[in-house]
Amino acid sequence: MKSYHVTAGQGLGELETRQRPVPEPGAGQVLVRIRANALSLRELLVLEGDYPLQITPGVVAGCEGVGEVVAIGAAVHQVKVGERVAATVFPHWIDGSFCFDYAAQLGSSLDGLLTEYAVLPESGVVPIPEHLSYDEAAAFPLIGLTAWNALTGGHGLQPGETVLTLGSGGVSLFALQFEKLAGAEVIATSSSPAKADRLKDLGASAVVDYSKNPHWYEEVRALTGQRGADHVIDVAGVLDQSVRAAALGGEVTLVGVSQGGAAKAEPLSAATIFRTGATIRPLAVGSRRQFLEMNRSVGVSGLKPVIDRTFGFDEVPEALAYYRRGQFFGRVIISHASSND
Ligand SMILES: NC(=O)c1ccc[n+]([C@@H]2O[C@H](COP(=O)([O-])OP(=O)(O)OC[C@H]3O[C@@H](n4cnc5c(N)ncnc54)[C@H](OP(=O)(O)O)[C@@H]3O)[C@@H](O)[C@H]2O)c1
Repeated sequence: MKSYHVTAGQGLGELETRQRPVPEPGAGQVLVRIRANALSLRELLVLEGDYPLQITPGVVAGCEGVGEVVAIGAAVHQVKVGERVAATVFPHWIDGSFCFDYAAQLGSSLDGLLTEYAVLPESGVVPIPEHLSYDEAAAFPLIGLTAWNALTGGHGLQPGETVLTLGSGGVSLFALQFEKLAGAEVIATSSSPAKADRLKDLGASAVVDYSKNPHWYEEVRALTGQRGADHVIDVAGVLDQSVRAAALGGEVTLVGVSQGGAAKAEPLSAATIFRTGATIRPLAVGSRRQFLEMNRSVGVSGLKPVIDRTFGFDEVPEALAYYRRGQFFGRVIISHASSND
């Protein structure tokens, strides 16, 4: 079987392909024939040596993947051969708060999913909602679950509340879709007028151009009658603006700091935090329990992800280069349909 292997910091040109025998599942493990993956900024950060978690040199790349269970080891009780499953990004994180003991991650310290077959612990997979194809289901394990956790893992979104999402990246698009399901009002930001139109098509009531106004929080406050947003999903680390845009006692979920926004952002002062009384909550993806919760909601609502483009399994370097150009709107998917059908 073919796999893509990565060594942190070596760059896209050094993504290496290797041929290895198909592994066998041991006790408590399942063998999954991978059918689709999704790419995100995370894979580029690993290649660029800018990812916060430990990367084992030569590890199989990719943390998002789905497929079909083709074999099970001894003492596997819940998962059956033929089942369609998604892998959880942190296979040891079943429930509760994230901590050091759960930090082993696919495509980081553990072999990932840009491969044709993967052995995973039984508890490291969850069933895929029936209405989703493999390509669609691949969009959820990292980026969908992060958005779900952002909205449900802290204060918990209530119908009628206002949510501010930043930019039109994968996390923000899922957050927008989940917010609309929950009956929230959504204000988005984007640097692109064309993407702003698409955000409105997905249900955003207003889109603020953060590239034109460094104090864009003022526009958010004006749009909310000076109240501010009950929830802010900050994917860029622009905390000074995010906290100023938040309602009194609101929640700012800090999802990422890697978009270049954090480096240029004004520092967040103690006085700003004090005046808003907002909770600032950094997060890491989500637990298996949260993945199951998200899948239940996705299954009941029939929600489908926004997919920008699908590449073949042999085109992973091209797909990563495409992602790096930043012209996408929605997930970039790797389909194994032609390579292993
Ligand atoms: N904590 C976690 O567990 C976790 C999990 C997944 C991802 N992340 C992090 O979350 C962030 C978002 O991930 P993603 O996959 O959604 O990213 P992405 O799809 O690569 O997002 C790209 C978009 O981000 C927007 N953006 C860039 N700079 C911005 C800024 N200064 N202010 C507002 N928006 C900005 C742009 O939107 P426009 O083009 O519309 O301007 C851009 O199109 C990344 O930093 C990623 O590393 C964290």
